[in-house]
Amino acid sequence: MRLKSRFSGPLRGSARPPGDKSISHRALILGALAEGTTTVEGLLEADDVLHTAMAARAFGAGVERSGDRSWTIAGAGGFRQPPETIDCGNSGTAARILVGAASAYPISARFDGDQSLRKRPMNRIVAPLTQMGARFDSAKGTLPMVVHGGKLRGVTYRSPVSSAQVKSAVLLAGLGAEGDTVLIEPERSRDHTERMLKVFGADIDVADIEGLAHPRVRASKLKGAHIYVPGDPSSAAFPIAAALIVPKSEVRIEDLLVNPLRLGLIETLLEMGASLTFEERRDPIGEPIADLVVRASKLKGVTPPARRAPAMIDEFPILSVVAAFAEGETRIEGASELRVKESDRITLMVDGLKACGVDAEELSDGLIVRGDGSKSVRGGASIRTHGDHRVAMSFLVLGMAAKEPVAVDDAEMIATSFPNFTSFMRSFGASIENL
Ligand code: S3P
Repeated sequence: MRLKSRFSGPLRGSARPPGDKSISHRALILGALAEGTTTVEGLLEADDVLHTAMAARAFGAGVERSGDRSWTIAGAGGFRQPPETIDCGNSGTAARILVGAASAYPISARFDGDQSLRKRPMNRIVAPLTQMGARFDSAKGTLPMVVHGGKLRGVTYRSPVSSAQVKSAVLLAGLGAEGDTVLIEPERSRDHTERMLKVFGADIDVADIEGLAHPRVRASKLKGAHIYVPGDPSSAAFPIAAALIVPKSEVRIEDLLVNPLRLGLIETLLEMGASLTFEERRDPIGEPIADLVVRASKLKGVTPPARRAPAMIDEFPILSVVAAFAEGETRIEGASELRVKESDRITLMVDGLKACGVDAEELSDGLIVRGDGSKSVRGGASIRTHGDHRVAMSFLVLGMAAKEPVAVDDAEMIATSFPNFTSFMRSFGASIENL
């Protein structure tokens, strides 16, 4: 499926983005590990999360859709031997977190995924889980792989990358290990696993190491819980960006997750001069929520600090589009993780921006975008997305503010994270057509 967007607007309206992907995966996985019933409200019903739901079933949980975005999980109190290969589709989160959870049980589980996921590094979880006592059959440190779990010992693991997927894999393995399991990472990644483990009654706290707090778990039994999934800031990033760059726009994003470890893009946009106002902050579920009002703004280029990268890791593609509409240089550094996401997002974004007439340059760990705020961006290109959902959505947003329409070669993968992207953007007045 190909899509094309063209100059639209002004964008107006108020809408709720789909449920947060990270929280949705975790709700299903912890619900499956727990004893008793877990109810989830607002689940993201997108391909990535549906793969996790199927996996939870294969590991022995009862997983039922009880209504629109409402799901019920009858936890088996742990993972059972799955009857077949666990297919994680396109989802690195599903693969890495499920492998970690499975490691704690005396089972052998085979994991696989699509062509993109088969290329993504799994050594980052194999290394700590092997130290804990799990065994792996994998030819190249990638999927497909078999994990043989059980009889784990706790570790203090110093991860070389800031990755919530690595952290979550190790912490969930630690739920079945003897002794303490502590995860140290260079910069703090999103903490949804830690927050949700508390809600499910796990023995989790923080260890003070060299003056810094790092999450620590001990062997625990989880108890079913109720989880409310707020709107995903990584999906909301697309309508937020569109409203900033399409002249005279004003939109309201409702019920947005505003966990500080997910707000790197918002911080950066504020530094660029964006008009963003939070309203009605609340915290009903152990995660903070708010509405966000976005108004079209005159923006300037910035250099976000490299240490902010984990708090905006999925938002760099759309930030580079916004930067093309700002005045001056935006320099993104410390983001080499972008090369091992669903695609090499640095190369794809720079290639696509250049094709749209933008002055962009690749760095080994990021990119530079030189915007000319006074003129708009030309657009007028057909973009190669390599099946990457966030690259596709980023260029469709660019097309909404550019002089000439922008087409993307494959929009099907948008369903992995934001299934109603097209209707959501159209509800604000965006012009997107099927080709
Ligand atoms: C995620 C963590 C991030 C992010 C991904 C979701 C999670 O990956 O890119 O989309 O839910 O834990 P890393 O933490 O591995 O960078």
